Amino acid sequence: MPNPTNPLHPTNPLHPPHATSRTHSGNGRTLSREVLLASRPVGEPAAEVFRLARTEVPEPAAGQIVVRNTWMSVDPYMRGRMDDAPSYIPPFPLGAPLEGSAVGEVVVSRSETVPVGATVSHFLGWREYAVLDAAAATVIDTDIAPPQAYLGALGTTGLTAFAALTEVAPVRRGDVVFVSAAAGAVGSVAGQLARKLGASRVIGSAGGPEKAKKLVGDFGYDAAIDYRAGSLGEQLDRAAPEGIDVYLDSVGGDHLRAAIGAMKPGGHIALVGAISGYNSTGPAAGHDLFQAAAKELTLRGMLVSSYFHLFPEWIGRAAGWLADGTLHTEQTVFEGIEAAPAAFLGMMRGANTGKMLVRLDG
Ligand SMILES: NC(=O)c1ccc[n+]([C@@H]2O[C@H](COP(=O)([O-])OP(=O)(O)OC[C@H]3O[C@@H](n4cnc5c(N)ncnc54)[C@H](OP(=O)(O)O)[C@@H]3O)[C@@H](O)[C@H]2O)c1
Repeated sequence: MPNPTNPLHPTNPLHPPHATSRTHSGNGRTLSREVLLASRPVGEPAAEVFRLARTEVPEPAAGQIVVRNTWMSVDPYMRGRMDDAPSYIPPFPLGAPLEGSAVGEVVVSRSETVPVGATVSHFLGWREYAVLDAAAATVIDTDIAPPQAYLGALGTTGLTAFAALTEVAPVRRGDVVFVSAAAGAVGSVAGQLARKLGASRVIGSAGGPEKAKKLVGDFGYDAAIDYRAGSLGEQLDRAAPEGIDVYLDSVGGDHLRAAIGAMKPGGHIALVGAISGYNSTGPAAGHDLFQAAAKELTLRGMLVSSYFHLFPEWIGRAAGWLADGTLHTEQTVFEGIEAAPAAFLGMMRGANTGKMLVRLDG
């Protein structure tokens, strides 16, 4: 029996019934599909660790909003949250929907501050509908960039590149800069940003000849290293014969070791990520830190959450560069909530160029 008082009912103009994958329960309530963590992976996750479930969208409480998610992000740090291990961010509970950045449209509001129709970003991805406190959502300006840009260049991955190269290992005029995972979300912005900050030479590494070509052709790198095509150290020596001043490390392991070998004395390294070890089951590979000592390097870790205060400055700058065409971004898009696990697993193996995203309202 239809329930015309339910604002989530398909007769509501804000909820067009075009999405054939969505159904409604017998009482007319909207059903939302979501991805649960069914089991904890050992090593590289299998598709079976994820489970697609349907749930009724609850009525929002006072101060809450209901968001129809249109885009969600998959990110490398989510792999760490699948383990039951102490970390800077708690593990995903078993049997519960995963979480992560998403953007969407407010379809119901019991908030004075966030109206129906607003486009918001928030942290309840991996589901088609999210019910959350309005205070936990940020209204985004879709006049300056499309909503999905707030999950990439105008979101935490863009901010990570900005914080890494301005605060953690600041690029000075004339620096030689090396970036790993350079064709990914952080890396594709970082190379272009390093140039804007005055780097004299920007070198990127990525997996495979096609990505290496894109680094120079599309993402503004001066030289590209295909790390699968031979010795990283030798390729780095050829690309930066005078050495490296700044390294943004997204990979760890062999990449970090090779970069330390190629650093100039006094160089700076931003330890941003170590994706080569995220599926590792053994102890993390040892790094040759003696060279770091002898060269008096500065290695500094970062968590982007410590730099959220830079968001307004970064969004202002990056939106301007997106508009004038001097910041080139790309997305790899998977369609539908059921494709979210494949998007995540693909991103971990390098199936993405630029930001890996899942479109939920295609
Ligand atoms: N510290 C923070 O607050 C923070 C914030 C955001 C991101 N991060 C880190 O930054 C890094 C990049 O994140 P992102 O969101 O921009 O992801 P991304 O680069 O868009 O996607 C991950 C990329 O990692 C590369 N990769 C996977 N396994 C690899 C390996 N064994 N060796 C070398 N490269 C490998 C793949 O590219 P290829 O095809 O080139 O292999 C893949 O496309 C991750 O380490 C992430 O954890 C840290």
